[in-house]
Amino acid sequence: MSLSRLIARKSLTVLGLNSGTSADSLDMAVVRFSASPRNPRIRFLGGAEKRLPAGLRQQILELADTREIDLDELIYLDNLLGRFYGRAAAEYLRALEKSGVRVDLIASHGQTVRHLPQKVKRLGAAVRGTMQLGSPEFVATLTDRPVVSDFRQADVALGNEGAPITVAAMQRLFASGADPVLLANIGGIANYFYFPVPRARMIPLAEDCGPGNCLSDILSESLYGRRFDRHGVRARRGVCSMRLLSLLLANPFFAGKSVSTGREQFGRHLADEMISFARRFSLPDEDLMATAIELTVTGIVRKVEPIIARDRRLSKLYLTGGGRHNIFLVDRLAQHLPELEICMIDDLGINGDYIEAAAYAVMGEACLRSRPTETRFTSGRRQAVCPVAGRITQPPQRARAGKGRVAG
Ligand SMILES: Nc1ncnc2c1ncn2[C@@H]1O[C@H](COP(=O)(O)OP(=O)(O)OP(=O)(O)O)[C@@H](O)[C@H]1O
Ligand SMILES: [Mg+2]
Repeated sequence: MSLSRLIARKSLTVLGLNSGTSADSLDMAVVRFSASPRNPRIRFLGGAEKRLPAGLRQQILELADTREIDLDELIYLDNLLGRFYGRAAAEYLRALEKSGVRVDLIASHGQTVRHLPQKVKRLGAAVRGTMQLGSPEFVATLTDRPVVSDFRQADVALGNEGAPITVAAMQRLFASGADPVLLANIGGIANYFYFPVPRARMIPLAEDCGPGNCLSDILSESLYGRRFDRHGVRARRGVCSMRLLSLLLANPFFAGKSVSTGREQFGRHLADEMISFARRFSLPDEDLMATAIELTVTGIVRKVEPIIARDRRLSKLYLTGGGRHNIFLVDRLAQHLPELEICMIDDLGINGDYIEAAAYAVMGEACLRSRPTETRFTSGRRQAVCPVAGRITQPPQRARAGKGRVAG
């Protein structure tokens, strides 16, 4: 279907794809947009995940954790990821079609392999950037659907960090006219969203909080050979080292100079430093795990506490992302924030493992329809606008008998 016909349609079904910083799986969410007044305007139809094959995961993490990279390998990984996303999406599209759901458009975030929010001087200019891999051309070709991708670049071009970018989408999915909403997404990196009620004089806020699961995951892999600390059982057995925690909190991110962060600051390098600290001061492995979780929790608490103090109507904190399955982490959050009820976002009708993928579906639809998704919000000290972001890639056009010929 041509793009102009797609844009003109009243109802649109979009498949959002997200492969987060944890590089654990490709999350897929189906969202239907309807202009009919009888139906809700946005409906989450379902989601699925496809685990990243071990070899692909290893390549992503190696690339993300290495400063000197081989450009050839970067190009190959872009293609391999695009191929993996395309195949996984095509498989899901076939299953959806069997149940009567036809997807019109794909919105693919890609895999972040670098996030550089701090400006540096190059050739007299102050530059920053972010890079996501996963060739959208492969996805479009393998699914035969148009693909919206590269959502972060428009934000960078507007002078921002390329994150957070899902504020307007999350607002459309979760903001309620009746009550303020506070969400914390605990993925590889943790971030929060705050949507006040429209008549309040407050404005939406969103920022990264610091590490989510990434440090705990790397430590778990290095110390126990396990991809993550299931339910936080090992961390629960340990005691947080206050000395190490205060060293970790001296990380420049917590000084508030940037509103987003990544594995560059809270990845392999820092985990290795934590392990050598533990060896030097004879800290048990479980204490390291407990300290990593306390860092995550402290990052979130520091960001949300001032909001709770300002908006007395806030009574709940909704958790999304894989970290909400870490019972120890959730318990620690509840202890730090006794004034809030800690809830799971699943209570609001969307599986919490697919929220980001659903947000990209919302952004994909907005890009296709050129709908301004301007939401004024503050991230730290800056005032920002959300651009209509994304690049559109079309699937190859099939040559029809008698209507044209493919050259060559
Ligand atoms: N049962 C569990 N117990 C403890 N931790 C869990 C459990 N299930 C998932 N996790 C954690 O969740 C992580 C995956 O979370 P998620 O997919 O939200 O992160 P992500 O891929 O980095 O996403 P994003 O960066 O887009 O927010 C795992 O790496 C693991 O740390
Ligand atoms: Mg994930």
